[in-house]
Amino acid sequence: MASLSCFNTPISGTSQVPLKLGDQSPNPHVTSRNLSFWRLGSRFCQPGFVESYLRRSNVLKNSNQVEASINCTQISDVPLLSCSEAIERLRTIRESYKSKQQYLAMYSSIFGGITTDPAAMVIPMDDHMVHRGHGVFDTAAIMDGYLYELDQHLDRFLRSAIMAKIKPPFDRETIRRILIQTVSASKCRKGSLRYWLSAGPGDFQLSPAGCHQSALYAIVIQDQSPSDHKGIKVVTTLIPIKPPQFAIMKSVNYLPNALTKMEAEENGGYAAIWLDNDGFIAEGPNMNVAFVTKEKELLMPRFDKILSGCTASRVLVLAESLVSEGKLQGIRVGDVTLEEGKRADEMMLIGSGVLVRSVLQWDEQIIGDGKEGPVSEALLNLVMEDMKSGPSTVRVPVPY
Ligand SMILES: Cc1ncc(COP(=O)(O)O)c(C=O)c1O
Repeated sequence: MASLSCFNTPISGTSQVPLKLGDQSPNPHVTSRNLSFWRLGSRFCQPGFVESYLRRSNVLKNSNQVEASINCTQISDVPLLSCSEAIERLRTIRESYKSKQQYLAMYSSIFGGITTDPAAMVIPMDDHMVHRGHGVFDTAAIMDGYLYELDQHLDRFLRSAIMAKIKPPFDRETIRRILIQTVSASKCRKGSLRYWLSAGPGDFQLSPAGCHQSALYAIVIQDQSPSDHKGIKVVTTLIPIKPPQFAIMKSVNYLPNALTKMEAEENGGYAAIWLDNDGFIAEGPNMNVAFVTKEKELLMPRFDKILSGCTASRVLVLAESLVSEGKLQGIRVGDVTLEEGKRADEMMLIGSGVLVRSVLQWDEQIIGDGKEGPVSEALLNLVMEDMKSGPSTVRVPVPY
């Protein structure tokens, strides 16, 4: 989904202009001082932290200067477009994207309806969510024409809205009905639904006082990439964890999360794991973590300083069957030390996106025997079965 803005250049009119990062900030210690507003935890305030983070993240390589190519807009020949020309360009540029994701339907309370035309799937530039990050969001998977854990996600969505001081434009039942209708209009039977509540459009002020009405947006995405359940590597992130007040709400402020994902990818990993300010294991950028200890206990960090995962909460229930079968000795939610995590028999990532994914390596440490573990595999099967044939409390049918 794109913000509604006019194109100020012909689609083909871009050029590669090299930018020297060093030109902007020749001294990394200056960068470090400029970033002090981050309110970094003590370890992040140590001299050289930002430099070492940037080096690890490949932002700075062996010297303080690195050449990065960026797309820079040419400032000559900027066309003035009519509304229909702008929309036509949106359509052309969308069609030129090579993406495995297709956007099948979008609802917007701004236009008060559903569209299936991707070119119209835009939100106003002056929406407080766009220019101030004043919005919350959530998701739900669509499986065989059912929405998985819609009500659990919807509860968290509305809790997040309260924390972000956004009064939804509709009551819960209406929002739920709109979301189901959007999926129905999309005809999508397997994919995902994403939805946002924002303070709404109005002006470009910091205060939302000028926002006329909060807004609800939803989009149905069909993803054609094959699912991959192979074990992966994770790294410990150097990006500061969000303070609990912000970590427990699913706001649109995912810059730290996106940076940790990039950090992981730059270091050959799939995700980067946060530790909390007491050094306990917290979560990944869009997933929770869990472990199987040497004593065959399923161990998960408590949710009081991280996002309360709908999938992780469901896994805690489904795992009880593994206790009955003797595959697990027990289930525990509590503080998990780094040492405990790294010497676990199994480690897994849990979330709506990954479902349950085995972690085979964390930083330099091989987890267990370095292979996908039996409990992680059993939990993945239980979640997939639950998505296909679980009780009505977790499966909401979509009338097509
Ligand atoms: C920060 C964070 N933690 C955990 C999760 C996992 O939550 P869920 O299982 O509800 O997708 C997510 C995903 O939304 C997330 O963004």
